Amino acid sequence: SFYLRPVPDDLTPEEKQELENIRRRKQELQEDIQVTQKKDTALLVWVKNMQRNKQVAMGRKKFNMDPKKGIQFLIDNDLLKNTSDNIAQFLYKGEGLNKTAIGDYLGERDDFNIQVLHAFVELHEFTDLNLVQALRQFLWSFRLPGEAQKIDRMMEAFAQRYCQCNPGVFQSTDTCYILSFAIIMLNTSLHNPNVKDKPTVERFISMNRGINDGGDLPEDLLRNLYDSIKNEPFKIPEDDGNDLTHTFFNPDREGWLLKLGGRVKTWKRRWFILTDNCLYYFEYTTDKEPRGIIPLENLNIREVEDKKPNCFELYIPDNKDQVIKACKTEADGRVVEGNHTFYRISAPTEEEKDEWMNSIQAAISRDPFYEMLAARKKKVSSLKRH
Ligand SMILES: *[C@@H]1O[C@H](CO)[C@@H](O)[C@H](O)[C@H]1NC(C)=O
Ligand SMILES: *[C@@H]1O[C@H](CO)[C@@H](O)[C@H](O)[C@H]1NC(C)=O
Ligand SMILES: *[C@@H]1O[C@H](CO)[C@@H](O)[C@H](O)[C@H]1NC(C)=O
Ligand SMILES: *[C@@H]1O[C@H](CO)[C@@H](O)[C@H](O)[C@H]1NC(C)=O
Repeated sequence: SFYLRPVPDDLTPEEKQELENIRRRKQELQEDIQVTQKKDTALLVWVKNMQRNKQVAMGRKKFNMDPKKGIQFLIDNDLLKNTSDNIAQFLYKGEGLNKTAIGDYLGERDDFNIQVLHAFVELHEFTDLNLVQALRQFLWSFRLPGEAQKIDRMMEAFAQRYCQCNPGVFQSTDTCYILSFAIIMLNTSLHNPNVKDKPTVERFISMNRGINDGGDLPEDLLRNLYDSIKNEPFKIPEDDGNDLTHTFFNPDREGWLLKLGGRVKTWKRRWFILTDNCLYYFEYTTDKEPRGIIPLENLNIREVEDKKPNCFELYIPDNKDQVIKACKTEADGRVVEGNHTFYRISAPTEEEKDEWMNSIQAAISRDPFYEMLAARKKKVSSLKRH
């Protein structure tokens, strides 16, 4: 080009200076262009990043409204790889994700979602944690959905992972599963202000007899777990202020009621506790062992008229004088089968009668979950006999 030509000999000093200036100016312009190009590239990267972040944010928003659609969007836009491991990591990090939505996605029945659930649970490290510590971590990473089948799958996956990380602590994953529920319920009993009678560590230990494939778990293990929950309640991600106690577990109720005897038709004042789909009654509020236990499985409830006010009755539908399956403790300490074809109960006020009837009705009709738990309990306690 013109500028690269050799400098002619016949230039005046002024012309030489002028040429020198032009060359310097050209050099400066070239440097300017390079800087601008670098700036442009940086700007381009920044814009692309912004677009990507915006899309990820949009994906998260979509996910929070409809988890499946959100995941689909992220995959379609190359923001997430469609493998169970990648999706599990995305949920485990959980940045900007609603924990209710994470729970919904993980709880889906679809084969692929179940794979993601397992990959998600495997991202949790439970080695050398006790069961309460592991549950704290697990229950904080998403919000358990309210549906029994979903909870069952998730807690099953949890129990498997816990046993894999801590071999030898429990005889089976069923044991771990049942104890996990016992702990969640203990949390409610100890920390829910509506539950007046707080179970003692002895009651907790006795409630968990026989769950280790027919054998008992070590007492110090149960004591440790009890103390841990007592000292610090479980936290679960709050969304709408509705904790598991209300969405899922029995609204535990307790109080004084009058109960009509089975054989001898006299009214006795008893302290009743409704929990774990059973009615327990005690002679005194401080008693450790109940006088009687009435499993609510297969029972119905109705209002009845009696000389006593505010009465209701637990009965077997279509009953032909069958005795209700229940047990009671005789005065001499023997535990015998009950001899009631119905249980008639009188509440102190009409309001309490209604509350008791509602709570018992709720406990009776929340079948799927209690059936699941009852089935596992039967399974582990029958193992010893076989
Ligand atoms: C992701 O892969 C699974 C099977 O591996 C498939 O069922 C699903 O439709 C895929 N999802 C998307 C959004 O491509
Ligand atoms: C434990 O109890 C506290 C207090 O009632 C409650 O806020 C929390 O949701 C409970 N945690 C679980 C996992 O039920
Ligand atoms: C998460 O989603 C649930 C259900 O859609 C909603 O009720 C709740 O308010 C959301 N939580 C937050 C923190 O946005
Ligand atoms: C139950 O009561 C019936 C009569 O009401 C009596 O014949 C029977 O022996 C009682 N059974 C027990 C186990 O007490």
